[in-house]
Amino acid sequence: MRFLYRLVLIVVLMIIISYVTIHEYNDDSEVVKPEEVVFAPSALNRLDDVARTCDVTSPIKWRERRLPGQHRLGIVVPYKNRMKELQTFVPHMEKFLKAQGVDHEYFITNQLDDWRFNRGSLLNIGAIMSGAFDCDYIALHDVDLLPNQIELNYRFPEKGPYHVAAPGLHPKYKFSKFLGGILIMSKANYMQINGFSNKFWGWGKEDDEFRRRILLQDLQIYRPPQLKSGQKSTFIHIHGEERERDTKRTGGQRKIFDTTDVTNGYNTTTWDDACINQITIANRQVNMVEVNLMCDKKETPWCEPGLPEDPLTPEELAKQAKQEAKKRKRRP
Ligand SMILES: *[C@@H]1O[C@H](CO)[C@@H](O)[C@H](O)[C@H]1NC(C)=O
Repeated sequence: MRFLYRLVLIVVLMIIISYVTIHEYNDDSEVVKPEEVVFAPSALNRLDDVARTCDVTSPIKWRERRLPGQHRLGIVVPYKNRMKELQTFVPHMEKFLKAQGVDHEYFITNQLDDWRFNRGSLLNIGAIMSGAFDCDYIALHDVDLLPNQIELNYRFPEKGPYHVAAPGLHPKYKFSKFLGGILIMSKANYMQINGFSNKFWGWGKEDDEFRRRILLQDLQIYRPPQLKSGQKSTFIHIHGEERERDTKRTGGQRKIFDTTDVTNGYNTTTWDDACINQITIANRQVNMVEVNLMCDKKETPWCEPGLPEDPLTPEELAKQAKQEAKKRKRRP
């Protein structure tokens, strides 16, 4: 029964992905009126009978198709209980993107289940949903980081992935491999690298794997020039309540930290239940993507919360000692 149920979900997902793919590359499509558009993912509205979290009585307002040569940005925000930040985020982005004339939609992916936080899967799901709204590029966006300089470009990234929150501009991070905060990418590029791995549960490391995927495909990462505003005022960092990060390493999860498995990603993202709730913030429609993720505990036992912390291996202990010695050296 369980198997059948999964099979059906996967088939539905495949249909959605192929639909999105077809329309992704079909740039010279004719103009269609909104009411004539048939969106395959109507199934998204209700995939099964798990907790009804969406208002299924009000039909989803889809977007009209883009005209040839036009672009539309999907702002994908992985999220868990951050309504206060969201209420600052949306009005700010509205003003900022209006100044750049960027057509956009919001996809706030809200993880409802009790598994550990899975940022990679949430970004993949947001990316999938953005296709149903005819977005051809996406911004992987933190909810607490607001762009504050007009030089930060949110238009279609013609040359390749564009890391807006570059090291040295991001208020906190300076190390050259940093790729978090805000990253803008065409959907074509995102699918080319197969999005994020779905295997990372708990805080961190999924973005290192993502970076390796980009490099594997020989894509160059572009960044804004170093601005005078530097780390001080290029962005506004919303300081919400301090939240505990789930940085525990449990269930043997460390074994995937240095691996790159592109067979797992955008095209293998699954969920138990997902729907879209359209809410209004500051007169703007925002898509809340409510999801219950699915975990294969045989493959990734570390999705389970509350497992005891793993001991460090001898190699990790040696690595840690080395890093600490290095730190001591830097601080005389
Ligand atoms: C998903 O994409 C990867 C990388 O391109 C590929 O190796 C894999 O076979 C694909 N899997 C499915 C289920 O399509």
